[in-house]
Amino acid sequence: MSKFIIALDGPSGSGKSTIANILSKKLNISYLNTGSMYRALTLYFLENGIKNEDQIDLNFLKNIKIDINEDRVFLNEKDVSEEIRNKIVTENVSWVSSIPLVRKYLVDLQRKISENKSIILDGRDIGTVVFPNAKYKFFLVASSEVRAKRRYEQNEIDKSLEEIQKDIEKRDYIDSHREISPLKKAKDAIEIDSSNLTIDETIDEILRKMDREDVL
Ligand code: DC
Repeated sequence: MSKFIIALDGPSGSGKSTIANILSKKLNISYLNTGSMYRALTLYFLENGIKNEDQIDLNFLKNIKIDINEDRVFLNEKDVSEEIRNKIVTENVSWVSSIPLVRKYLVDLQRKISENKSIILDGRDIGTVVFPNAKYKFFLVASSEVRAKRRYEQNEIDKSLEEIQKDIEKRDYIDSHREISPLKKAKDAIEIDSSNLTIDETIDEILRKMDREDVL
């Protein structure tokens, strides 16, 4: 079987990580959640008082060890999988992910991790920047209303439905208006709107667009 890359991009809360996780198991390929990498670095910045771009350079970043094993995320060997989902990390991740040096460092790391294997990566810029030549590119969207509702039902956050929807819209705005690698559908990506689809239906839609040889 030849190796292939699936780029799965889309706004926050569109269900990318759930879909990517299930797909990777169905297809028996690797999975990399790139949002987790930006979150892990954000946690490091918070813990170490990094508040300004001038405080970092590439050497500094290279000494921060980020490892991802299935759905567990390790920061300098410590399992931070739960911590990186905290409110404080979520509130600061947009700033950290808008720093050019951070993006360069993490994009290089994402390319290295993906060498010599079939893999699905989910993020914002996988189809546009990280792997513009990926064999498959999907752009997963859902209305902010539906995304807020899904998040609300997960019961993770102590906020009203309206507040969650507002947060999501704010993050969409920041992610798609930042100067470097904004959230954007690649020209050749297939857009899938999951607003009215279940997880299984969304996965079926993706599988239908793939070559038989890669799906079997
Ligand atoms: O997918 P997520 O919500 O866990 O991502 C967290 C943040 O990381 C999101 O606000 C945007 C940023 N991100 C990015 O800029 N590029 C990626 N490839 C993945 C995430």
